[in-house]
Amino acid sequence: MTPLNENAPKPVFVSVRPHLRGSGSGDSPQSSEPLVMPESGPLVDRYDRIHNDLRISVTDRCNLRCVYCMPEVGMTFQPRDALLTFEEMVRVARVARELGVTALRLTGGEPLVRKNLPTLVQQLSALGFDDLALTTNAMLLAPMVRSLKNAGLKRVNISCDSLIPERFNSIRRRGNLKTVLEAMDVAEAAGLTPLKLNVVILRGQNDDEILDFAAFARDTGRVVRFIEFMPLDAQGQWDHSQLVAGREIFELISARWPLEAIDTHSSAPAERFRFVDGQGEIGLISSVTQPFCGTCNRLRLTADGAIRNCLFSDDEHSLRDLMRAGADDDVIALALRSAVWDKYPGHAINEPGFLKPSRSMSMIGG
Ligand code: 5AD
Ligand code: SF4
Repeated sequence: MTPLNENAPKPVFVSVRPHLRGSGSGDSPQSSEPLVMPESGPLVDRYDRIHNDLRISVTDRCNLRCVYCMPEVGMTFQPRDALLTFEEMVRVARVARELGVTALRLTGGEPLVRKNLPTLVQQLSALGFDDLALTTNAMLLAPMVRSLKNAGLKRVNISCDSLIPERFNSIRRRGNLKTVLEAMDVAEAAGLTPLKLNVVILRGQNDDEILDFAAFARDTGRVVRFIEFMPLDAQGQWDHSQLVAGREIFELISARWPLEAIDTHSSAPAERFRFVDGQGEIGLISSVTQPFCGTCNRLRLTADGAIRNCLFSDDEHSLRDLMRAGADDDVIALALRSAVWDKYPGHAINEPGFLKPSRSMSMIGG
């Protein structure tokens, strides 16, 4: 790390004990001693959760307009100079790597609408993360697969909410199913595996396709992950009635094809299940009905350079402003440490006073 520059800006936030907003499934600190943020070692919070997973949103723009994410018209995006440059993203990633982050995921918006993404992947890959993945809607993926793979990308998660072309169009409003299915084949052939599908199930819209998606997982060996609709849509139209609980999905699928849990001991948000007959795997991401905050190891960098410790907390600190004001690496490291340290034990979606975060999923990065 570079020596501390006395004149460089310091982060202007302090570590205060969070007022335990939301119990989630997070545990309370074990000790009644006042806790002090460690100055070395891994990125840890007050609840002993070690953070080794960084998600970088490379743009808030998108070529689709999924109903659970954005309005059909009128979405506003950040001006381009508000977004981090590749150099700034790589710098944050490098400091995070030095602080023990081992897994990196690129998200958006739609990450592939950002120009020259393989160049960024190559620079990030050189930092030596164990995992380097991309979440994409796959509309632009097929022609880029080769260069992404050569740049060091390891795997992709592809969003796909319907296997019926007209339905796909009505949920995603732009794009088309054929292109996405073809991109899955190309990605898989190039070794961007295990290939995972992200499927947001919405009551009355695609909940009749749950078994079809399970059959797709069985037929293709791709991991289909069913995601509960979260209050992160830009329109603010989320409500419980559109949500299909992971439990309901599990019961429906296991009645047809028995499932057994895969014991992972990992911090991954998906509960994993294999089909008992050995044919394929599904995941359930029950963020709302069964929060997994207690094992959360994730930290997010928004496209405009804010570090964010939770999808559902508006606590943010702009690393972009620090970097553009001349901060050195120690200041960036301290900002990352403080952001993790100040994390709440869990989200409060199911509590009466819950306020939807002010930024939506495409702005934060999934
Ligand atoms: N609720 C649940 N999942 C969402 N995604 C985007 N918005 C929402 C939401 N409101 C998912 C997309 C994508 C991933 C990054 O997040 O399907 O796969
Ligand atoms: Fe775009 Fe993803 Fe949002 Fe759909 S969910 S509009 S693909 S950012």
